[in-house]
Amino acid sequence: MLYPNLDVSEMFVERQAQRGAMHTRHLNEQLVRVLKTIGYDVGFQRGTGQYLFDRDGARYLDLLSGFGVFAIGRNHPVLRTALKSVLDADMPNLVQMDVSTLAGILAERLLEHAPYMDKVFFANSGAETVEAAMKFARNATGRNEILYCDHAYHGLSYGALSLTDDSNFRGGFGSLLPGCSQVPFDDLAALEKALSTRQVAAFIVEPIQGKGVNIPSDEFLPGAAALCRKYGTLFIADEIQTGLGRTGKFLAIEHWNVEPDMVLLAKALSGGHVPVGALLTRKSIFDKIFNRMDRSLVHGSTFGKNDLAMAAGIATLEVMKHEKLVENSAKRGAQIQLALKSMIPGFELLKEVRGKGLMIGIEFGPPKSLRLKASWNILESANKGLFCQLITVPLFKEQKILTQVSGHGSHTIKLLPPLTITEEDCTWIENSFRTVIADSHRVPGAIWSLGKTLVDNAVRKSA
Ligand SMILES: Cc1ncc(COP(=O)(O)O)c(C=O)c1O
Repeated sequence: MLYPNLDVSEMFVERQAQRGAMHTRHLNEQLVRVLKTIGYDVGFQRGTGQYLFDRDGARYLDLLSGFGVFAIGRNHPVLRTALKSVLDADMPNLVQMDVSTLAGILAERLLEHAPYMDKVFFANSGAETVEAAMKFARNATGRNEILYCDHAYHGLSYGALSLTDDSNFRGGFGSLLPGCSQVPFDDLAALEKALSTRQVAAFIVEPIQGKGVNIPSDEFLPGAAALCRKYGTLFIADEIQTGLGRTGKFLAIEHWNVEPDMVLLAKALSGGHVPVGALLTRKSIFDKIFNRMDRSLVHGSTFGKNDLAMAAGIATLEVMKHEKLVENSAKRGAQIQLALKSMIPGFELLKEVRGKGLMIGIEFGPPKSLRLKASWNILESANKGLFCQLITVPLFKEQKILTQVSGHGSHTIKLLPPLTITEEDCTWIENSFRTVIADSHRVPGAIWSLGKTLVDNAVRKSA
C-alpha cells in the first residue's frame, strides 16, 4: 500500500453504513427517499455473476443487470484479469497522437459479427453513440431530418433525448433538437409517408423497444430497411440494449435478417465495468465524415478508445463466445417464457408474456371480476402503472428478485438478467412470480394494502 489511507475497498466497508446520508447530503436525495419508501435500501455488499448480496448476506437474483450492462455477470474473472493486465502493462493509453492497438482488435472482433460493415467508431456511453449516429447520418446524407418511433428510448443527452418519446424525460429542459420527428412503431405506411419527402437523413429504431418490450411484426424491420433504401435514408438499429446476445442472437436484427446502415452498441460491451459505446457502419458512410486529413478528428471524445474500455469489450466478447452466452440467452429465455405463459389462464391480472431471449416483458392489465376491479381502479386512477410497482416490491423483499417496471406508467415488468442465468435460476423466477402473482389476486391482501397506504400517503401530502 503506497498511501495508508487509500485502500478503496476498505473505504467501501468503513463508510457503507453512511451511504444514504452521503447521498442525501451531496448527491440525489430523491433517489434515497424512493429506495427507503419501497424498502430497497438493503445495502448491497457484493455482486458476483447474476447474484447480489445484501448487508445480511441474503442472496438476490438480479433481473435488472444494471440496466443491461452485466450480460456476462458481475465481476467476471476473465474481465477482471483483462483489466488488471492493462493496468499492470503500463500501456501507452490515450496518447491521442497515435492509434490504439486494442481499439483495432476490438473493432476487428465486433465486425466479425456484422460482415456487411467495415468501420467502427467508439464512444463512452449509449447516448454518446446515438449522438455520433445522428451527426454521421446528417453529414453523410446532407439531409437534416431524423425519424424515431413512438415509445422509443435512445438516451438523455439533448440529441438522444430529441429521439426519445417520453414526456417525463423531455419535460422542463427547454427546446430539443430541431428536425427530429416521430412515426408510429410498426407502421410501414406511416414510415413511407414520412420518408417520401426525401428530406430524412436517418430512421432510428430499437429492434425490440426497451420501454414496454414491444416487438414489431415480422414485416416491419425488413420493410423499413427497404423503404429507407428506396428514399435514400440511413437505417440505424439502436442495439444498445438488444445487442450482444440479449435477445438470443448476437444482434436482435438477425431475427429478421436485416442489414442496417449503422448498428449501435454500448451497455453489455462494457462488461459492466468500463463505459463504452460502439457505432458500426459501412465505409461509404464513415468516409464521408472523416473525408480529409484536416477532418481526421472532426468527431470524437477525449476518452473514446481508452485501453480499459477496449479491454473490457475484448474480454466481454471472449466470455460470450466461450460460455456460449448467446445460446444460453435463447434457451433460458424460452424456458422462462414458457413457464410464465402457462400462468396466464390462472391469473386474470396477467395479460401477456412476450420477448426474445433474455429480454422479457410481463404485462398486467385490468381484471374481469368485480372482486378485483374496484381495487385495481383505485390504484390506476391514483397512479397509472402503480400495480406493477406493487408486484416488484414483494418480488424484491420476499422472493429476493430484483426487477424493474419497464417505463413510466407502464403495466409491464421487464426481465433483463445476466445472460449467465441457469436452469435453477429460471425455476427461482417461475416460483417467485407464481407466488407474488397469486398473492396479488387476493383481496384484501398485502399488495393491495401497500397500494392503499401509498395512495393515502400521496393524497395526504397533496392535501
Ligand atoms: C436502446 C437504448 N439506446 C440508448 C440508451 C442510452 O444509453 P446510456 O444510458 O448509456 O446513455 C439506452 C439506455 O437504456 C437504450 O436502452
